[in-house]
Amino acid sequence: MTDQTRRTFLKQAALGAAVLAYPSSTVLGANDRVRVGMIGVGDRGNDLLGQVRKVPNVDLVAMADVYSRRRDQAKSKVPGIQTFDDYRRLLDMKDIDGVIVASPLHIHVRHFIDTLAAGKDLYAEKTMTWSISEADKCLAAAKNSNRVVQIGLQHESSGALVDAKQLIQDGSVGKVTQVESWMSRNTPHGKGQWVRPVPSDCTAQNVDWSAFLNGRPDRPFDPFKLINWRLFWEFSGGNCAENMVHQIAWIMSALDLPLPSAAYMSGGVFSEKDGREVPDTIAVTLDFPKDIVVTWQSTFSNRHYELGDRILGSDGTLEHHFEEPIQYWPEKTNRPSGEAMTGKTHDQDHMKNWIDCIRSRGTPNAPPEIGYRSAIAVHMSNLSYKNKRRITLEEAKAITPEY
Ligand SMILES: NC(=O)c1ccc[n+]([C@@H]2O[C@H](COP(=O)([O-])OP(=O)(O)OC[C@H]3O[C@@H](n4cnc5c(N)ncnc54)[C@H](O)[C@@H]3O)[C@@H](O)[C@H]2O)c1
Repeated sequence: MTDQTRRTFLKQAALGAAVLAYPSSTVLGANDRVRVGMIGVGDRGNDLLGQVRKVPNVDLVAMADVYSRRRDQAKSKVPGIQTFDDYRRLLDMKDIDGVIVASPLHIHVRHFIDTLAAGKDLYAEKTMTWSISEADKCLAAAKNSNRVVQIGLQHESSGALVDAKQLIQDGSVGKVTQVESWMSRNTPHGKGQWVRPVPSDCTAQNVDWSAFLNGRPDRPFDPFKLINWRLFWEFSGGNCAENMVHQIAWIMSALDLPLPSAAYMSGGVFSEKDGREVPDTIAVTLDFPKDIVVTWQSTFSNRHYELGDRILGSDGTLEHHFEEPIQYWPEKTNRPSGEAMTGKTHDQDHMKNWIDCIRSRGTPNAPPEIGYRSAIAVHMSNLSYKNKRRITLEEAKAITPEY
């Protein structure tokens, strides 16, 4: 492909053109080494770097990050790794099979679409995108490619999900009308959740600031925002995008739920008034067409109940806590002889599941469809919060989100 055709091609992909002929990569044998690159290797990227290096027969050969500190860190961890400040140079490498993207939320759409357009398989961190229209473009791009795409929703690889689906499908749970879920954390007084110190080498010389801004209004280098992008709407989706997305994806998968019909979210910046924009205290209600209401609550000022999901059915109750087996209790009203159960299925390694699918060309545990549905639930909730009212799916699709 010439530079000109590649540019046109990428432009079409960015516009979400309906049908594209994606380049295909070489077909790998079951024992062939998979060559992987990474884009955005900060906190989460470093976790994923450790995970992918543990998968047998994988070579991590390249990474791209706009901040020199991250490139130096990667070089010290992975001997011989090639590093780039511009991710497009990494995508130009013909011998990379798959790319892991762990950049900030507002850049996901670019990295997602360009990675597929370059013919690479993709592991894309959640939340799939920053907005609904971007999620539409990414889903279309994934559907029009023959690439293996895993979204970084690792709860989708849990044994608890397999067991929950089984108990729901075999009737043990009965008719489900309500699901409650929650996520809570705490921090020492005066220290806001998520706030990270700015390293002394985080300077305009060491960072490609305009690549980070990715089309957001230009301004002088702001190291606090680069490091703490999560606190600000123009780059972030707040705690719904950071944490609710994992739980709502799990609940939607367990119950095979379509997109929510409406969302209502209340809350505010109550725990630490430290200049952040995104709320730290949240109550979300999601209505679903199948006569189910799902609630999600979150606080950053108390961690007693930590994180969990409860599926309430006419014949039984399911309770799920992160990285623990599912618990089931029968409802004696409708299942007098039912017995309590604890799930037995082991978790799968989410990263290895992606690599296995790169070889088999199978569908990973968290394909773009669940990335999409969970992203829409996140964005509907945030739009409700910002507009201070209940928002239907149709309304949410028509709103252009503001920073
Ligand atoms: N699945 C999970 O459990 C989980 C956990 C934490 C974070 N995440 C997700 O991972 C993503 C990253 O979060 P984080 O905490 O690692 O953020 P981070 O700020 O620590 O890391 C992001 C990295 O991307 C780099 N970057 C910024 N702009 C770039 C660009 N244009 N091109 C290339 N690199 C660029 C930054 O320099 C930084 O190193 C987010 O989407 C977050 O929601 C997922």
